[in-house]
Parts: sequence; C-alpha cells; structure tokens
Amino acid sequence: MNDKDYIYDPDLTEDADLIDEDYGEDWEDALLLEPLGDDWDEDFDDYDEDEDEEKSSPQGKDRMYENEQVSQRVLLVSVDCGEADFEESLEELRELTSTAGGEVIGVMTQKLSSPVSATCVGSGRVEEIAEFCDLNDIDLVIFDRELTPIQIRNLERETSTRVLDRTMLILDIFAQRARSVEGKLQVELAQLKYMMPRLTGSHAELSRLGGGIGTRGPGETKLETDRRHIRRRIDLLKERLREVEKRRAAHRARRKKTGVVTCAIVGYTNAGKSTLLNRLTDAGVLAEDKLFATLDPTSRALTLPSGASVTLVDTVGFIRRLPHHLVEAFKSTLEEAADADIIVLLCDGSDEDMCSHLQVSRDLLNELGASDKPILTVINKCDRADPVGLAGVTGVRISALTGEGLDRLLTAIDDAMPVKPVRKKLLLPFTDLGVAADIRATGEILSEEYTAEGLLLEALVEPILAARMGDKYDV
Ligand code: GTP
Repeated sequence: MNDKDYIYDPDLTEDADLIDEDYGEDWEDALLLEPLGDDWDEDFDDYDEDEDEEKSSPQGKDRMYENEQVSQRVLLVSVDCGEADFEESLEELRELTSTAGGEVIGVMTQKLSSPVSATCVGSGRVEEIAEFCDLNDIDLVIFDRELTPIQIRNLERETSTRVLDRTMLILDIFAQRARSVEGKLQVELAQLKYMMPRLTGSHAELSRLGGGIGTRGPGETKLETDRRHIRRRIDLLKERLREVEKRRAAHRARRKKTGVVTCAIVGYTNAGKSTLLNRLTDAGVLAEDKLFATLDPTSRALTLPSGASVTLVDTVGFIRRLPHHLVEAFKSTLEEAADADIIVLLCDGSDEDMCSHLQVSRDLLNELGASDKPILTVINKCDRADPVGLAGVTGVRISALTGEGLDRLLTAIDDAMPVKPVRKKLLLPFTDLGVAADIRATGEILSEEYTAEGLLLEALVEPILAARMGDKYDV
C-alpha cells in the first residue's frame, strides 16, 4: 500500500476547496523542498526560489529522506543529577538508540550535583569514555540530555568519537520515520533549527570546514555562508509548512462542518496505538515493536455499536522529556489530537512504567490545551499484563492484539460522543428572521430560500437551541 493512501481520508481530500490550483492534485508532493544533498551548498548557489523544477524533482525527493539502517556501535552516557526518572530515561534512551539502528555496547553513568559546563561529565569520566571508545570500536557516544555546542565540541575532541545528545537522536529517528510531506518538512525544520547554534562544533556536518575557535579566515566565512543558507532554507520550510497547515486546517474545518466526530488515539510511544487503529478499522497502519513507528496522523472511519460514526485518528507517540522545540515542530501533527472531540489515552498495561507514561501523556495533553476533552483511559496489552500491577488503575482494559475488551471500548466511545447538532427544515416568518442569526452562530445553515411566507431553511441546529425552538418553525 502506498503510504499516502492512508494519510488522509480519501473522501475528505477529494474536496475541491482543498486542492490548490498552483500545485494541482499532487499538492502534498509539490510542497516538498528539493533536498539538501551532498553538494548542498552548491545546490544553494544555483537555487532559485521561483523555479518550479525545484518542486518536482522526484529523484531528489528521495535522496534526503532515504535513511539506510547502518548498525552503529554506541556508548550511552548519562549524568545522574538526582532526577526522579533517571533510570527510566536511560532505559528509554537505550530503546531509542535501537530504534535508530544503533547497538548499545556500553552504558556509563555519573552522579553529579550538576553537569560540568565544559564536558557535561567530569574529566576523569571523559578519559574513561575515550578509552572505552578506543577499546570497543565505538562509532557514537550518545548523552541522555541536551548538550551545548561547546560540550559537544570538547567531548568530540577528547574522545575522538562522534557525540550526539538525546534531542539529536530523537530528531534522527523522526527523520527516519517521517512519511507525510508535513512530517518531512517539520523534521527538517526542527533539525536545522537545532543545528544552527551548533554549527561551530567541529562535528557539524553542514560546516565541512569546521569553524569556531582556531578557524578564522575562510573557515569563518564559510560558517557565515552556511548560516545564511540554513536561514533561507528555514524560511522556505516555514513557508511550505504554512501551506500544509492551511490545508490541514481546512480539512479539519470541513470535518467539523460535516458534523463528523473525531476520536484521537494518543499515548506513549509503543503503547499499541497503530495496532488498535488497525484492529478497529483495518487501516493497515505500520505497527512494529519500535518506538515512533508512527509519525504522521492517519485517520479512518469507524462505526460504533449505536450506529454513530467517528473518525479515528492515530497520532505520534508521546515521549518523556520531549524537547520543547520538538513539541513545537510537531504541533500541527499533535493538534490533530488536541482538536479531536474524544481522546482515547492508550497505555501499555504490561509496562511497569505505565503510571508514569500515563502522567507524561496527560501532561502533554495539558500542554496542547486538550485537557478539557472527554479523555478515556484505556489499558492495552492486557493479554500479557500482570493483573496485580493493574489493580487500582482505572480504565478500560483491552488487548488490541487479541481483540479482548474492544466491545467495552467501543461502548465507552459511544457514551462519550458529544451531543450532535439536529438537522432541521424550518420556515421562519419575516417577524422571526433573527432566529437565523442564532442558528448560524452555534450551528450551520445548509440552505436558505426566501418564499412568500418567510425564510425557508435547512440547518444543523445546536441541540439546546433546537430544544428551545421545539417544533415552532418545523415544516
Ligand atoms: P508508536 O508508533 O511508536 O507511537 O507506537 P504505537 O503506540 O502505534 O504502537 P504499535 O501499535 O506500533 O505497537 C507496538 C508493539 O506492541 C507492536 O509490536 C504490537 O504488536 C504490540 N502490541 C500492540 N498491542 C498489543 C496487545 O494488546 N498485546 C500485545 N501482547 N502486544 C501488543
């Protein structure tokens, strides 16, 4: 199946309003930017923003986003400054590393009151890292916290090994996993924004001449050129993203107008969101035992036991210590969740960190302004969960894998359905034309026609207003 087949509900994307004449029906592809290849700086020299060619280079498109999975030997380093979630975060870093295709060869930790400003860990530990890397052919050292450009530069110099921080690793995974045009644009934007202040680091890939202290003259000039190019690229990406967001907003608005109720499946990464969506709707969304298998929202229609239908939306997985600029970068993807009428908050009942995962998810929902929605807590993977561990946790218990408890979940969604507008045919006498404005303010007028007796309307009327009117104007 083509990835794009399930990014949007085909019925909804057929809407002529959403198709931009400039880009045609393939507007999603047209919005992709020509990737930065190996000769990225030369690309920029020749680059003309108005050139249409740039929008439609199919072979170029794949170059940037193709990511080979080369297994790299990794050393994880974590500084314990007394954070309560220190262990869990490190465990998650291990999983993130394997998701990114790395093999964890060793883990080093150090207890400190605060990270050392020059190298994050103490000098003795830096020496140990260097020695470990040398003895074990380590390709990459990954730190479980954000590093400053100076720390990265110092660490790389001292250890002669490439150093990444947690955010860079997450961005790398996002880059591997992004499937929709929006996802790809957002990932590139987040990467460039994160990379900008780090360009002085000797490791910075885009700054091939290096830069910073000791690299004056041509190096400095190159660095400035790099920065300028990146800024231009960032502006272009933002512009394209605005286009995509406009379309997504129109898509959501149309969904709202047609009275379609949306239910977003949110939750910690790997909780089983895609599996649940598949199970309920046969959507065929990629589900694998890796973090961030899903990066783009996918949606499918679902009929509830009551006969009502909802659009079920799968969303990107939440994660502990998600860097704030990533929340921003993925805002429009996550907005899909914040915008839903009902939220299914899914968690992995077999994970011993379930309660803290639920908390992380709730915090993020709060941050997205979605805390006032009906939120159904759903405990998944009950087929392998320890019932003792689940005691005292309230929520619908299901197994997306075996199908157990799905009937209960569907009933719970049914119960949480918002009261829908009432479709009415009305005749408003000329003396009561003001009622039309009330209907318009909270509902929607589908058609209107002036007749000799008054205004003939077909409208979706908000339930309280409908109850107030009774059958006074019904025809
Ligand atoms: P992200 O895309 O990373 O956010 O993950 P997700 O929440 O969409 O999880 P996904 O559906 O990809 O499932 C993750 C793994 O859990 C897969 O290996 C699934 O087969 C497995 N899984 C999902 N639901 C169940 C379940 O009810 N029981 C068991 N035993 N495994 C499950």
